[in-house]
Amino acid sequence: MKPATPLQLIALPLILGCAAVLAFAGAGAGQPANKEAGPAPAQEKAKAAAPAGADGDYVGSDTCITCHEDQQRRFKNTIMGKVMANSRTPLEARGCEACHGPGKAHVEAGGGKETIPVRFGRDSKNSVAEQNDACLSCHARGNRLFWKGSPHDSRGMACVDCHQVKQELHVALSSDGRYNAPLSENRGVKKSQPELCLQCHQMRRAQLQRSSHMPYREGKVTCTSCHNPHGSPNPKQLLQSTTNENCLSCHTERRGPFLWEHPPVMENCANCHEPHGTSNPQLLKVRMPRVCDSCHVATRHPTQAQPLGSIKNFNRGCTNCHSAIHGSNHPSGDKFLR
Ligand code: HEC
Ligand code: HEC
Ligand code: HEC
Ligand code: HEC
Ligand code: HEC
Ligand code: HEC
Ligand code: HEC
Ligand code: HEC
Ligand code: HEC
Ligand code: HEC
Repeated sequence: MKPATPLQLIALPLILGCAAVLAFAGAGAGQPANKEAGPAPAQEKAKAAAPAGADGDYVGSDTCITCHEDQQRRFKNTIMGKVMANSRTPLEARGCEACHGPGKAHVEAGGGKETIPVRFGRDSKNSVAEQNDACLSCHARGNRLFWKGSPHDSRGMACVDCHQVKQELHVALSSDGRYNAPLSENRGVKKSQPELCLQCHQMRRAQLQRSSHMPYREGKVTCTSCHNPHGSPNPKQLLQSTTNENCLSCHTERRGPFLWEHPPVMENCANCHEPHGTSNPQLLKVRMPRVCDSCHVATRHPTQAQPLGSIKNFNRGCTNCHSAIHGSNHPSGDKFLR
């Protein structure tokens, strides 16, 4: 990018300033202020100044608000509401009707649940696909690129099963909120994570309670640290292309390269670890030494039952000697002893 010239630097605030003044004047000339809304915030005014969005079967948000003040009050304070109030695209300028569809017939009928083209939720006459299309008209790209055909889409899940649109989720600063979700998370979801996902994924709920678990309860990782619930081109909706790439994105010290590689580590961390939680130390799928025995049966120091105190089962831990089990860079580390 070319660096801005001093002239451009001066011009920018000027242009922005003028736009604000124009927007303010526009709002003053517009329809009488909504008395429920109180002193209208800036984005309100900008919206009134924008083209009303009334054409064809569209009546414009201002008409909707006359009967649905409550929805407007709740929606305008969400991130989506704020952006739409300062619309950047013709679709955003449609406001309420961007999601609910053209409302002329609804308004002429004086309201009614069946006259509005798109309604959301379980009791809606619209199919899940129709409801999702309303959202995807703006959100089809980015993280939703692989939504179509993803596990959640193909099981008939709607965006609004996880998302609420009219209200921000406020994760209270109670210990409950703190330990259930990272504080930065506030993406219009109905429940904080991982609770949102655990409603359906009961097996994960059990795993999270086990003695060895990824620090979900402690608020250091959450489901979307590893998965994209909107679908991904990777197995199990993972953010990375393989399980190993996923693990190594945080546990970088395990990436190597190693002079002596242990093949199961290079193949899949999940050969030995269960990422969601186990009852064995260090997220091991099977307790030591059985985790090694599952592959190594006839080694030079066989692993069948040994006399108590045998050096071969030193403290029941193969890794007490084979400590560099993820790979070694020591010249004589071929047995992962160092
Ligand atoms: C981004 C899409 C979207 C926009 C924009 C939107 N709505 Fe909604 N609306 C929804 C969804 C989704 C629901 C279902 C409840 C929820 O998730 O909050 C809903 C529910 C409703 C309901 C049912 C009652 C309720 O609160 O649950 C009414 C009435 C309504 N919207 C009116 C409006 C009006 C008026 C506007 C414009 C100020 C508007 N909507 C803008 C998506 C939208
Ligand atoms: C003349 C008043 C009026 C206007 C204007 C109006 N509505 Fe409604 N709307 C109603 C009434 C009344 C209902 C029925 C509410 C009920 O049965 O609970 C309704 C229902 C709805 C519902 C379904 C609520 C639900 O429970 O699921 C939505 C969505 C909705 N309106 C959106 C809009 C949108 C978007 C606009 C602007 C295009 C609009 N309305 C304009 C009066 C109005
Ligand atoms: C007219 C375009 C439009 C439609 C339709 C729309 N959105 Fe949005 N949405 C936006 C914009 C703009 C933002 C602001 C953030 C951004 O630019 O990504 C946003 C943000 C969001 C966010 C993130 C909020 C946050 O806290 O970061 C969620 C979640 C979301 N939308 C869900 C939905 C759902 C669910 C629907 C369907 C009911 C929907 N949207 C329909 C335009 C739209
Ligand atoms: C299984 C639950 C679930 C479903 C279904 C779902 N989402 Fe989300 N969505 C989430 C969660 C959780 C986040 C927060 C992700 C984060 O914090 O990284 C999110 C974030 C978002 C965001 C804001 C961040 C971003 O990724 O840009 C948007 C926009 C969004 N979802 C739109 C949608 C739309 C549109 C649909 C339907 C096609 C949908 N979502 C379906 C759970 C879901
Ligand atoms: C540290 C990364 C990580 C986190 C955090 C994580 N997962 Fe996973 N998840 C994985 C990996 C890796 C797999 C694939 C495991 C495999 O191949 O054995 C997976 C698989 C899954 C599967 C598919 C299981 C199957 O057998 O098909 C589901 C469902 C799932 N995770 C849900 C969740 C939920 C819900 C959460 C939040 C409580 C979560 N995950 C948190 C990494 C993670
Ligand atoms: C409304 C129920 C529901 C919710 C909520 C839900 N899921 Fe799912 N999820 C499903 C169903 C159904 C499947 C398909 C299960 C199967 O194939 O066995 C699935 C599959 C998955 C898979 C496995 C994908 C695969 O390829 O096998 C992952 C990973 C996953 N969900 C993660 C999440 C995450 C993360 C969240 C929270 C943001 C979440 N889910 C919320 C119902 C849900
Ligand atoms: C989003 C980052 C992230 C990802 C991805 C991730 N981890 Fe972790 N992992 C952590 C954090 C944070 C801890 C806790 C470390 C601590 O407390 O010092 C941890 C701890 C562990 C532990 C030690 C647990 C214990 O009880 O001592 C193991 C084993 C582990 N992770 C394996 C994996 C595996 C296998 C994967 C891939 C499936 C993975 N991790 C992916 C962040 C991550
Ligand atoms: C062959 C089985 C095996 C495989 C495959 C494996 N690990 Fe491990 N991992 C272990 C064992 C055993 C321990 C416990 C170490 C000990 O007892 O000293 C462990 C411990 C860990 C720990 C905790 C370390 C600590 O210092 O507390 C992390 C993190 C970890 N592994 C990450 C990974 C990652 C990432 C992968 C994939 C690249 C992976 N592991 C693959 C067997 C394995
Ligand atoms: C998923 C199967 C699998 C698991 C589980 C596994 N290994 Fe291995 N391990 C292998 C393979 C394959 C090789 C390579 C054998 C070769 O090169 O001949 C190997 C090589 C080794 C070697 C070097 C052998 C040599 O001859 O150079 C040692 C030492 C070793 N593993 C120890 C362990 C320990 C300790 C554990 C438990 C923490 C373990 N392994 C778990 C598959 C596994
Ligand atoms: C007291 C330390 C010690 C313990 C405990 C131990 N090993 Fe070893 N292991 C060794 C040494 C030393 C060698 C190298 C022998 C050599 O180079 O000739 C070795 C070699 C190996 C080899 C490669 C040689 C072969 O037999 O092909 C494997 C595989 C192996 N160990 C697996 C295991 C497993 C699995 C366990 C746990 C049941 C275990 N070891 C526990 C010290 C130990």
